Amino acid sequence: MKNISPIFTKAWKNLERNYQSFKDVHMKEMFLRNKNRFQEFSINFDDKIFFDYSKNRIDQKIIENLIDLAKETHLEDAIKSMFCGKKINVTEGRSVSHMHLRGNILDENQNNFLQNIREKVNISLKKMKSFSEDVIQGIWRGYTGKKITDVVNIGIGGSNLGPKIMIQSLKPYRNHLRFHFLSNIDVEHFNDLLKKIHLETTLFLISSKTFRTQETLTNAYSIKKFFLKKAKNEKHMNNHFIAISMNIHEAKKFGVKSENIFKIWDWVGGRYSLWSAIGIPIVLSIGFSNFKQILAGANSMDRHFYESDFKKNIPVIMALIEIWYNNFFKFETTAVLPYNYCLRNIPNYLQQLGMESNGKNIDRNHQTISYQSNPIIWGGSGIDGQHAFYQLFHQGTKIIPCDFIGSVCVHDSDNEKSFTRDHHDRLMSNFFAQSEILAFGNIKKEQNICKKSNDILYIHKFLFGNKPSNSILIRKITPYVMGSLIAMYEHKTFSQGVILNIFSFDQWGVEFGKKSANYIFSEINDPLKKKVQYHDSSTNGLINLYKKWKIRY
Ligand code: F6P
Repeated sequence: MKNISPIFTKAWKNLERNYQSFKDVHMKEMFLRNKNRFQEFSINFDDKIFFDYSKNRIDQKIIENLIDLAKETHLEDAIKSMFCGKKINVTEGRSVSHMHLRGNILDENQNNFLQNIREKVNISLKKMKSFSEDVIQGIWRGYTGKKITDVVNIGIGGSNLGPKIMIQSLKPYRNHLRFHFLSNIDVEHFNDLLKKIHLETTLFLISSKTFRTQETLTNAYSIKKFFLKKAKNEKHMNNHFIAISMNIHEAKKFGVKSENIFKIWDWVGGRYSLWSAIGIPIVLSIGFSNFKQILAGANSMDRHFYESDFKKNIPVIMALIEIWYNNFFKFETTAVLPYNYCLRNIPNYLQQLGMESNGKNIDRNHQTISYQSNPIIWGGSGIDGQHAFYQLFHQGTKIIPCDFIGSVCVHDSDNEKSFTRDHHDRLMSNFFAQSEILAFGNIKKEQNICKKSNDILYIHKFLFGNKPSNSILIRKITPYVMGSLIAMYEHKTFSQGVILNIFSFDQWGVEFGKKSANYIFSEINDPLKKKVQYHDSSTNGLINLYKKWKIRY
């Protein structure tokens, strides 16, 4: 992989010029000038996901220059390097091969590394299949002989968010099992969970790639304590505790028997791991064949990303447009706005994906970067947002590029039910209306109405428009589509990292936070009860106050 700083490319200089001459052009004008704008700036994926990026502050020239930027930073080589298993995660000395969990793109016979991966993946999938079928069919029983009714996933970050978004978004495909996600060590969360489950009918999945994450281990050990208090005998853990990890040694030390350990590998990054055994909650929830559909959908997106010309490549275009806004317009955030209840938490998932991957300030040449890396990603249910934060979108002083995500069909066995269609049509009317208003505003319409009626408030009612957005219109939320959608964002993140000359697959900032918290934990619990004095005055003061109030409480 070449390490080219984007700002020293010819394309970057061209884009700077483009920005100067283009920054005040209104989207209204662009649509008037080009009648084919919708056709030219949209991509249809598998007839299942339609990506419309015409409501962006771009034209053909800008897209060409952005694509030149991708070319000059050797994105194509980087894609090939990742797919053929080169160790592109340089700072951790690892390959990045989560795509191979979902199927192949390349001829694996030519590549030992990929062949080896395929064997491991097949063994793992087989084990996931038979385990999940046993649990779902009630063959796997708890220690008192009762069937499993509840599954608790104990994990955080990538060992939580991926399975969670999939299970949530694929609710119509779920079986009888109830799912709970324990990520937070906040005791309130823990106690809440205990009230909802019966230990003898609950399966605990300890999901941790490293098996070293403080939050996950604290929760796992506490659950184990509760469990043993009731079950009395350690051997009963075999019916209730499953580990998913790369660290087999620690999983065994915790008390999980070998057969109950599902292995993952160092070439699967935490935030890219839902396709591996970290996806066991998904398999348990929607069944193995649906999980295979997720993999198939993702594999199809892999192929699209690998094979499509950049001009027609959704992840690449998404990445480039975001770079354009973040670096040239200096728009600092991107809002993800699902118009689908099933997808309401997708912004959380995408936050980790984008911000943990590309939230970096050192480039691949080990130099401090002088441009913007990842924007702040945020968002939430679009329809709720309309009555909360959209006012700022429309008339605030900041410009926030948006990803609108909505679906055409709803999951309802009786699609003709009048209220179902009515609700969904109303919901989607808002989806279309918002991106339209953001792009085109209302100046003319309002001006005419207000002037005629002599409304002195008319100036307050103007919406200037020219606010960019992507519309991602999905035919229906299915396992296949969810696989494609998440893979699409993964590849967008990867493309952005490559172009911005960033190592996207480490997270040293987060690692340091983990260490610091462990150190402070030992200070809080210091048996000698010494006053803490090795931090700055604020941190010392806060910890000492915490210790004081803790005793009084
Ligand atoms: O949040 C930091 C992080 O390292 C993520 O990258 C990872 O997904 C999460 O912690 C959990 O890590 P693990 O699966 O090893 O417990």
